[in-house]
Amino acid sequence: MNLTRKILASHLAKPSDMVPGSEIYLKVDHTLTHDINAVMTYLAFEAIGLDRTQVETSVSYLDHNLLYLDFKTPDDHIYLQTAAQKYGVYVSRPGNGICHALHVARFGKPGKLSMGGDSHTPHGGAIGMLCIGVGGMDVATAMTGVPMRLKMPEVVNVKLSGKLRAGCNAKDVILEMLRRVSNKGGLGKVYEYTGDGAALLEVPERATIANMGAEMGATTSIFPSDEAVRKFLKAQGRENDYIPLAPDPDSDYDSVIEIDLSSLEPLCACPHQPDNVKPLREVEKRNVQQVFIGSCTNASYSDIAKAALVMKGRKVADNVSCTCAVSTKSIYTQLLRDGYIEMMLDAGVRFLELACGPCCAIGQTPPTNGVAVRTTNRNFKGRSGNPNAEVYLVSPESAAATAITGTFASARDILGEDVKILDTVHEPEEFPISDSLIIPPLSPEDAARVEVVKGPNIAYLPVPDAPEENLSAKISLKAGDNVSTDDITPASAEFSSMRSNIPLMSKYCFHRYDPDFAERARSLGKSIIVGGENYGQGSSREHAAINPMFLGVKCLIAKSIARIHKGNLVNHGIVPMLFENPDDYSRLEQEDTLEIENFPAQIQAKRVKVKDVDKGFEFFARPDMSETEIEVSLDGGQLRHIKKQLAELGINTKK
Ligand code: F3S
Repeated sequence: MNLTRKILASHLAKPSDMVPGSEIYLKVDHTLTHDINAVMTYLAFEAIGLDRTQVETSVSYLDHNLLYLDFKTPDDHIYLQTAAQKYGVYVSRPGNGICHALHVARFGKPGKLSMGGDSHTPHGGAIGMLCIGVGGMDVATAMTGVPMRLKMPEVVNVKLSGKLRAGCNAKDVILEMLRRVSNKGGLGKVYEYTGDGAALLEVPERATIANMGAEMGATTSIFPSDEAVRKFLKAQGRENDYIPLAPDPDSDYDSVIEIDLSSLEPLCACPHQPDNVKPLREVEKRNVQQVFIGSCTNASYSDIAKAALVMKGRKVADNVSCTCAVSTKSIYTQLLRDGYIEMMLDAGVRFLELACGPCCAIGQTPPTNGVAVRTTNRNFKGRSGNPNAEVYLVSPESAAATAITGTFASARDILGEDVKILDTVHEPEEFPISDSLIIPPLSPEDAARVEVVKGPNIAYLPVPDAPEENLSAKISLKAGDNVSTDDITPASAEFSSMRSNIPLMSKYCFHRYDPDFAERARSLGKSIIVGGENYGQGSSREHAAINPMFLGVKCLIAKSIARIHKGNLVNHGIVPMLFENPDDYSRLEQEDTLEIENFPAQIQAKRVKVKDVDKGFEFFARPDMSETEIEVSLDGGQLRHIKKQLAELGINTKK
C-alpha cells in the first residue's frame, strides 16, 4: 500500500474497499481551529450538546486576527478561550504563532489523522500525518467522536529527484506543481511525495509544498516520516513521537508526476490565481510597492534566515514597504539569537506580530492599483483587502531580492555566485521551546465550572430548513469561473471581526464581487445561485455557505464546486448541484425564475429537473453529494443530522 492508504486504512471506522470515489468513514485523532473561523464551530459544538471533545487532541489557535479594532475581536478571543476550556480543548494564545506551523511543531505525530477548520491543514503532511481541511461544522462533528465521512481520494505519486539549486525554495516546487496541474487539478486527489529529492527536503520545506496542495484543490498532500522528520521532532524535544512511515516498495498509485528539483528556477504566481505561474525572470519589471515575507506557507527558520542573508548589508528600496511576520515564537527567538532579525531590521524591514496578518488582509493592504509581492499562498483578486491591487506569489529568497531592487528579482540577481551561501542555512538542531502561550485542557471537574463568555458580537448560529417540496425561486447571482470563498465572504480586520455575527456579516456577502447581492438576495426572500467552474475555491471559511443560506439561497447549480465549500453547503442547507450539460449555464440569466418540483424526491433520485419559467426550457442538474450528504441535506443540514445520529447511537446530549 502507499502511505495514504495505510493511514486511511488504520483509521477506518467501517470496513471499506477504499475504492476512489466511494465514501469512507474515519476516526479522527486531532482537530484544529483558528479564531476567524472557529466561533461557528464552538457554537455548533455547544448546540450539539456534548460536554467535552471526544478526540485525542483538539487545539484552538488564536492566530489570524490579532488587531483589536473594536470590541468584536477581543470578544471573539475571550469566547474562544473560555469555550475551549469548557470543552477540553488546548488554547494557543495570541503571540504563539500560526496554527499550522505550531500544530506540526508542538502536537503533530506521524501516522495520525487530523481534521482542521482551515484549508491549509494539509501542512501537517510534512511529518507523515494525514491532515484534511474541512469546514467548521465538520470540525464540530469530529469533536463528537462520530466518524468523519470522506470521499476516498485517488493517490498521485509525485516523485522528486535531484536537489534544489541555491536561490530556489520549496515554494518553487509547489508553484511548478500548480503550473502543471492547475487550481482544480487536485480535486479528489492526495499528492504523495517520494523519491531521493523528497528525502533531501527538510520538514518546513515539505510543509510549504503540502500546505499549498490546497491551491490545487487537493484533499491533502503527504510526505514519508523519515530521518528528516525524526530530526525535526528531536529539535522540538519530541523525538519520542517519531515513528518511521513510508509507502511499501512498488506501491500502487493512481498516477505519477515526476519533478527533477535541480531543473527548477525561481517561479512566480501572477495575478490573480496561484496557478498563473511564470518563471520570475519573465515577469515584467514593474515597480513594487509592498513585499510581505510571512504566512504559514513560508515563514520557517530557514525561509527567514535565507531572506535575511539576501538582505544582509543592503537596504530595502525607497519605493517598497517591506514587512515580515515569523510563523512561531520559538522560530522568532532562534532567529533573534542567530542575528537574522537584526540583519533584516538593518535593511529596513518592519516586523509584524507572529500571526497570519496580511495573508488574510489583516493589515498591509496594498495601495490603489498597487503591486505587492508576497510569500503567501493565495493571490485572489481582493484577498489582500484591495480589489484593484495585483499580488504576486514568490519564495522568501525572491521576495527579499525584490524588496532590495524595488522590482521583481531573484536571490541570484542580488548575490550572483555568492547565492551558494543560502545552501549553508539549515533548520536548527534544537529550538528554544517555551509553551508559555499554550493553555492545556482543564480536568472535566474544573471544566464544568468554566463560564463561557459571550460578548455582544457572538450572535446565534442560524440553522437551515430541509429542502422544500416545490421550489420556485429567482437566480440571485450568475457567477463566473473560479469564484473564491474570499469573493463570497471578504476578509480584512474589519470583516473578519464580523464572522461571529451572521446577521451583520451577511450584509457583506459577495461585497467585493457584486456589492448589490446581499440586498438583492434578501429582498427576493429565497433564491438560487448559478456558478461556473471551481465555485468556492480557496479558504475553508464556512461563512461562504452560512451567509448565502441566511439570505435565503436554497441551492447552487454550477459547472464544478470546490471540495471543502461543497461540504459546507451541504452542512448549512444549500443543495449543491452540477449542470448535467454545462452548456445550459450560458442559457441562464440572473433574475430568471427557476422551478423545481418534488425537490427532496429528485435529490434522492440524484437527478433534478429544473424549469426556467421565463425562458420556457428545462434542463437537468445532478446533486453533487454522496449518499450520506443527501441524508444530511434532506435532514436540513449537519447540525440537525448529527443530533439525530447521536440520538440513534443512544448518546445523551444536553439539548
Ligand atoms: Fe493564516 Fe494565511 Fe495560513 S490566513 S493559516 S497564514 S493561509
